[in-house]
Formats: sequence, structure tokens, C-alpha cells
Amino acid sequence: MFQHVSPLPPDPLLGISIAFAQDKNPKKVDLGVGMYKDESGITPIFKAVKRAEEKLILAQGSKSYIGSAGSAQYNDLMTAMVFGFSHKVLREERIASVQTPGGCGALRVAAEFIKRCRPDTTIWVSDPTWPNHEPLLGDAGLKLATYPYYHQETHSILFDDMMKALEKIPAHDVVLLHGCCHNPSGADLNREQWDVINELALRRGFLVFIDLAYQGFGDGIDEDAYGVRLMAETLPELVVANSCSKNFGIYRERTGSLFVVTEAVETAPAVQSHLNKIVRGIYSMPPAHGAAIVETLLADEALKNDWLTELDIVRNRIKDLRKALSDKIQEYLGNDDYRFIEKQQGMFSFLGLSAKQVEKLRMDYSIYIAGSSRANVAGLTLENIDYVAKAIAEITE
Ligand code: LMR
Repeated sequence: MFQHVSPLPPDPLLGISIAFAQDKNPKKVDLGVGMYKDESGITPIFKAVKRAEEKLILAQGSKSYIGSAGSAQYNDLMTAMVFGFSHKVLREERIASVQTPGGCGALRVAAEFIKRCRPDTTIWVSDPTWPNHEPLLGDAGLKLATYPYYHQETHSILFDDMMKALEKIPAHDVVLLHGCCHNPSGADLNREQWDVINELALRRGFLVFIDLAYQGFGDGIDEDAYGVRLMAETLPELVVANSCSKNFGIYRERTGSLFVVTEAVETAPAVQSHLNKIVRGIYSMPPAHGAAIVETLLADEALKNDWLTELDIVRNRIKDLRKALSDKIQEYLGNDDYRFIEKQQGMFSFLGLSAKQVEKLRMDYSIYIAGSSRANVAGLTLENIDYVAKAIAEITE
């Protein structure tokens, strides 16, 4: 049965952490997998999250099954966080939601559902996109295609080309957009661009699917949901995958949500029944702990406010790191070639380095970034910024 199985190469992102762990260089810097690090170089637990977890453990009286859709209260609180408390789709009850094992679980359940509804559909993803979109969506049996998004040389969004491509997408296809903090480029659509895409989707009739994995890391919880809320307001249907990994810092707890907005109110329970059945057939029920922490936190006003304050600090620190890295590289290179880093959003920036240069960073400096030259800016510290900036300048000069 297994004799013909040959080893696969390491995962393009998770493989970086393994290589990093084996590196003995004391100066090594991990800018690979998207995890926020504080000034001491660790991925901290938010204080409000820790307190919510303590509160949860004290109050929890049972570990019984929670059902395929997960916790109803978590689903309600997350729906409000993503769509806003008084959004039309909540009032009209045109939404089905499931608690999922991270954003990945949400993406896969969505793909399975889309596949059942329309097996011949194509999902259009940005070029470039997060490498794991391909297996998560494609392995469900859906065809994938790309639309132009980001230009490496000019470090900007190819909006006209993107619109030309979207204009040709058939009504029964799906367009995947990054809600904020585009992964891997860090280049986000502005509000006018969201408005234009929204209008096009309405006119052309394709289904929009938004991956919102970094809500709160761009400009704020409400600000980063602009595209989701706008499209939920105007489009008849919408799919949204959300992750709590980054904004609650509970990466390993695998907590996320899938939302499906339906055109008619009576379709929502039907969709819900299908989502539940898909979940039951893959992993039966989501893990409970992470979602229970989020639920405890969001249901407690004081904890929620403390978490929002901490999230502000994280977001502002990443912005400071972006500026500090741009400044330092400019100091070394004597030009503003890397100033774009400061203007981008969220954890990542594409440095625009060749595969050889990425390899050189790793071999000569023990600086680990993704092979695509995506760097996790949120993994820098003020202490190692000078070392990283100097290395980038040296390999590009
Ligand atoms: C990343 O892009 O580095 C993160 O979203 C982690 C992952 O699972 O790939």
C-alpha cells in the first residue's frame, strides 16, 4: 500500500520554523511564519486572554460535546465582531455560521460547501496569495485560477489589471479577497477600491469569499472589516472565513469561524444544516477551548476593553517596526528603495528579493524569511532590526 510513497518537501512556511530551530547561530532571526513577537522575541499571551482563560477554567463544569457548529454564543459574538452589532444581515437573520479549527478549518469547510453547491466552479485567488490557500481550497476538488494583484517591482497593487481580470469572471465562479493585511504582500485595497470591486461583483454576479485572518492588525477591528461589512450589505450572498489566531494570539488553539450570508432568510437554516453535516463528516466538531476563551473574553466588557487596548499596542508596535526597518535600510543603502515597507499593513511585506538572495540571508546571516521573500515584520525586535537592515542592504547592494 505505502511502498510507492516518496517524501514531500517541507511546507513552504512551517518548514522555516523547523530549519530555524536547528540553526545554532546566536544572531539568528525568524521572520518566517506569521506570528507576532514582543521585544523579548517571544509570542506573548495577551493579558486579557490569559485572564479570560483563568475565568473559563474556574467556571467550566463540563467537557461534554459542543456539536458540529460549535458554541452558539461564540458564533453570535464572532458574528457581531466581524459584521458589526447591528448589521443588516444579523437583523435579517440571513447568516449561517460555524466555529472552526482556525481560519484553515473555515477555508476548507467553505471549499467543501462550494464544491457541493457548484462542483465546476473556479476559485480565483490573488497573484500572489497565501500558499496554503492552494491545498485548503484545491484539495477539496475545486479548480483554482489567479487574478493579478501585486507588482513586485513597484510594490503596489495592480488594480487596473485586477479589475480587467475580475470583469471576465463568470457569475458562477468565486473570487477570494483578503479582508485586510494581504498575505503575503502587505498591500491592502483602499476603501474606494473595495467600493469598485463591490459594484463589479454586484453587476457580474460572481460570489465573493473573504479571508479575514488579521482583523485588528491593519487599522482596527471595525476599520479592517470595511470590505466584509460593505459586501454583506449590498451583495446577495457572501462567504467569510475568520481567524482568531493573530488578533487573540491563540495560534495553537485553532479557533476561527466560517460565515455564509444567504440571499433569502429561509436559505440560512438550510445552509447551516449543510455546514454542520460537512463538519460532522470531516472532524465531527471543532476543538472547544480556544473558542471558549474568546467567548469568555468578548462577553465580558472589561476584558474586551483590555484586549482591545492590548491589540492597539500590538498594531502600533508593528507600524513602528515597519518604520524603523525602512529607516535603517535607507541609512545603509542611502536610498528609499525599501520605504514601501512602512506603507504596508499587517504582519508581512514582500521584500522583492530573488531566491538566491533569500538563500543568502539564511546561509550567511541566519535570517529566515519565506522563499517568496515575504518577511514577517511582526517578528522583528528593536534589538535585531539593525542586523536585519544591514544584511538586506549588503545582499542587495
Ligand atoms: C503564515 O502565513 O505564516 C501564517 O498564516 C501561518 C500559516 O499557517 O501559514
